[in-house]
Amino acid sequence: MNVRFSNFLNSLSLRFAVYLLVCFLSFSTVVSAAVTWGYIHISPQNISLLAILDDSSGKIYLQASGPAAEWFAWGFNTTNMNGYAVILNSGTLGNYFESTMAGDTMPPKDAIQEMSGSYCVTNNMVYYFLQRKLTSDASPFHYSFTTQPTNLPIVWAVGPGTRSFVKHALSDRAADTLSSSNAPPPQFRSISPTNGVAILSMTNLIVAVTNRVQFKNDLNSTNWTTLTNLLFLPPCGSPLLSIVTNLSTPLTNSNSRFFRITQ
Ligand code: HEM
Repeated sequence: MNVRFSNFLNSLSLRFAVYLLVCFLSFSTVVSAAVTWGYIHISPQNISLLAILDDSSGKIYLQASGPAAEWFAWGFNTTNMNGYAVILNSGTLGNYFESTMAGDTMPPKDAIQEMSGSYCVTNNMVYYFLQRKLTSDASPFHYSFTTQPTNLPIVWAVGPGTRSFVKHALSDRAADTLSSSNAPPPQFRSISPTNGVAILSMTNLIVAVTNRVQFKNDLNSTNWTTLTNLLFLPPCGSPLLSIVTNLSTPLTNSNSRFFRITQ
């Protein structure tokens, strides 16, 4: 091969390698693994939604709660009755399904269902714990979630005092925004001093999912306190997930009362 041509090829492959490296670096800084979460509560209808979007499991986790005697629903990436929605508590207590809404009429149950989960009831409130893959490869109609913090347009609706899936009142439906961030979650209150069982809040759900946080004891804020066998309990029903962390200072009655989550 002609020497000049071979030099030209070498410099071309070098340039290409540099180009690939630059692509890789910029890609890896933009798309870093993340846990993003958003929470919204609608009153006086008293429905809430906590969404945790987790890169490492590739899943979205939802905790959706509302009055046990009514159906309620959340639609994603829409401002009206079109597009992907999750309908909860319709017909029977514990029933939930995904729907592709198609206008101002009763949303149908999609042939493909991707959400799975459980539910429980306490104090006339029902809590659903659901999960599905972030990106839907099963149904082109199911919204693909992203872990990038964003302001997602959503809609919600609540039944007219019944689980029968009939039209909501005008005042029981609206468009809103689910703002998500990957900021450290707020402080949460623990716990039974003797056994270290945490009461579920949106925060410790995040802990359970991310498994990337440490605990600092409020009573001794200079020292890290890590916990073993910390079990995160939902408001009712069985524990969703449990995490085990390494214990540097064993929990005692005097150091286990309040914990602040830090990242
Ligand atoms: C049996 C089920 C349902 C029926 C028959 C129904 C029917 C209707 C009708 C006729 C309207 C226009 C009148 C109005 O403004 O109230 C409407 C509006 C609306 N509905 Fe529904 N709906 C149902 C379920 C849902 C669900 C599950 C959601 C949310 C996930 C929802 C969210 C909305 C919103 C945001 C509006 C106002 C924007 C729009 O007109 O599209 N609805 N619905």
